Amino acid sequence: MVEISASILSIKNEEAIKTLYNLETAGINYFHIDVMDGKFVKENTSDRMIEYCEYINSISNLPLDVHLMVDDVKSYINSFLAFEPNIITFHLEAGKTKEEIFEWINLIKENNVKVGISIKPNTNIKEIYDYLPFIHMVLVMTVEPGKGGQELIPDTIEKIKELDKYVKENNLEIDIEADGGINTENVSLVKEAGANIIVSGTAITASENFKETVEKLINN
Ligand code: DX5
Ligand code: ZN
Repeated sequence: MVEISASILSIKNEEAIKTLYNLETAGINYFHIDVMDGKFVKENTSDRMIEYCEYINSISNLPLDVHLMVDDVKSYINSFLAFEPNIITFHLEAGKTKEEIFEWINLIKENNVKVGISIKPNTNIKEIYDYLPFIHMVLVMTVEPGKGGQELIPDTIEKIKELDKYVKENNLEIDIEADGGINTENVSLVKEAGANIIVSGTAITASENFKETVEKLINN
């Protein structure tokens, strides 16, 4: 059964409390926390995401799915460990060496948090294979990281298929999360390709009925 991780990047600040409550009651599985540093990507959402994490942890038991789109991965890992997230995902493209990537993997694991690695649309899926035995999830970006409300890039579906095939052939226990531009129309393509966790932001938060949209994302 696919799980839904709702991105809160595009929620209106003045309606945040209501929106977060409505998302929780809509039946999502995770809050997807999009942390941007203004360097790895143009936007800087750090302060807002810290505020939302503090609030979510005070009103909800839903797990946090933290997506770091940052250059200084180590310092952001330490900042977001404070919210006891379910998983922290960093970008493969932020690592300069294999040692650095494994340092980040171990830092997250030592704090009993699951590890995810994300790749941008233009990064070859094979570049992540060496790390798969050591992590819990691959976050395949189906849009360029940096903002919500974009169109899904069709070529990224093939990457999910290739990754799913490799994971199955090597008997790996790995979640595949797809992130960006996913809605009730294209979600079936993403699931058939092999993604078992779906990130959806605008498709849910811009819809009239969150619960109905979440159900369609799960069942379509
Ligand atoms: C983009 C973020 C995504 C995005 C998803 O950089 O990583 O999580 O907010 O939002 P939608 O579903 O609106 O593309
Ligand atoms: Zn994201």
